[in-house]
Amino acid sequence: MPTPPAAPPTTILTAVGEEWAGSVLPAAVRDRLAAHGPVVDLATADDGALAAARVLVTGWGAPVLDAATLDRLPRLELVAHAAGSVWGLVTPEAWARGVRVTSAAHANARAVADFTVSMVHLAVKNVLRLGLTAAQKHAMPGRDGIRGLDGAVVGLVGFGLIARLTAAALRPLDVRLLGHDPYYDAGDARRAGVELVGLPELLAASDVVSVHAPLTDGTRGMLGAAELGLLAPSATLINTARGGLVDHDALARLLADREDLFAVLDVTDPEPLPAGHPLLGLSNVFLTPHVAGSLGTEEARLGHAAADEVERWAAGEPLRHEVRPEQLPFTA
Ligand SMILES: NC(=O)c1ccc[n+]([C@@H]2O[C@H](COP(=O)([O-])OP(=O)(O)OC[C@H]3O[C@@H](n4cnc5c(N)ncnc54)[C@H](O)[C@@H]3O)[C@@H](O)[C@H]2O)c1
Repeated sequence: MPTPPAAPPTTILTAVGEEWAGSVLPAAVRDRLAAHGPVVDLATADDGALAAARVLVTGWGAPVLDAATLDRLPRLELVAHAAGSVWGLVTPEAWARGVRVTSAAHANARAVADFTVSMVHLAVKNVLRLGLTAAQKHAMPGRDGIRGLDGAVVGLVGFGLIARLTAAALRPLDVRLLGHDPYYDAGDARRAGVELVGLPELLAASDVVSVHAPLTDGTRGMLGAAELGLLAPSATLINTARGGLVDHDALARLLADREDLFAVLDVTDPEPLPAGHPLLGLSNVFLTPHVAGSLGTEEARLGHAAADEVERWAAGEPLRHEVRPEQLPFTA
C-alpha cells in the first residue's frame, strides 16, 4: 500500500488588500507558496486554517497585527511582508510574541533606485525642464546651460537600501558620489564608492541631491529653509523618499526665487498636493504621484521576494531580509 503524503506543515495565510492581491500574489507566487501548504486568505480562513498557520504573507492593505489578530493565529512563526516598510503592520505585541518578520523592501528598492538613476540622467541634461518649457511656451527651447553627466556630483541623503542600489548603478559612470547618513559606516560607504559628508557639505557640493532617508520624528522637516538654501547653483533636488522630510513651503518659496534650481518630487506632504498648492504652479518642479516604487507588472517582485523567504524558512535556512525591532527607529 502506498505511503500517504506527509501532512502539509502549515497553512500559508495571505493578507494582501484586494487592490493588490492579483498583482502582488499572481499564480506563479501562489504556486510557490502552495508547495508548503494550503494557501488561504486570512479574511476567509476557518478556525482550522487559522490554528494551523505558521506563516502569514502580508502586503499593502493587510490588517494591523494587533493582539486580537494574533490571538487568532496561535502557531504563527513568520510574517513574510510582500511590501516595504513594516511600520503600521507589526506591533510591539507581535515582536513580544517572538514572531519573525521579513520584508520585501529590497525588491521594492530596485524600482526606486532605477527611477532615481533615470532622474539623475534627465537632471544633468535639463530634460524635464526643457520638456515642461516646450509644453508651456509652445516652442522648442534652446540648449544653453546643459551641464552633462561627466564630472557631476550626486549627493545621497540617507544611505540605505535604495541609495546603495542607486550608488552601485552610478558608480561605473564619471560621477562623484557623496552621501550623508549618521548611522552608516564611513569605511563601508567608501568601499561602495561614496564619500560620507555632513548634510550642509553635501547640499552645497551636489549637482543632484537625492533624498533616501526614512520619515521619523527625527527626520521630519530635515530639509528646511536653511538646508535648502545651501543648494548649489542649478542643482536638482530629487525626493522619492517621503514628502515630510522636506519643508514644502520653504521649497516652494525657494524654487519661486531661484529659477536655476529644479525639483523632482515623487512624494509630497500632503499627498496628493491639494489643488492650488504653490508647488503645482511652478515651472521648475516635476511632480509624479508616488510612482517610484514597484507598480503594475513590478508588483509581482514583492510576492516572489516573500516566497523566497518562505522557502528559506521551510528549508530551515537563514532568512535574508529579516526585520529586527531595534532597526526600526532609523530605517524605513
Ligand atoms: N517613492 C516610493 O515609491 C518609495 C518606495 C520605497 C521606499 N520609499 C522611501 O524611500 C526612503 C528610503 O527607503 P530605503 O528602503 O532605502 O530605507 P532604508 O531604511 O534601507 O534606509 C534609510 C537610511 O536612512 C538613514 N538615515 C536615518 N536617519 C537619517 C538622517 N537623519 N539623515 C540621513 N540618513 C538617515 C538610515 O541610517 C538608513 O541607512 C524611505 O523614506 C522610504 O519610505 C519610497
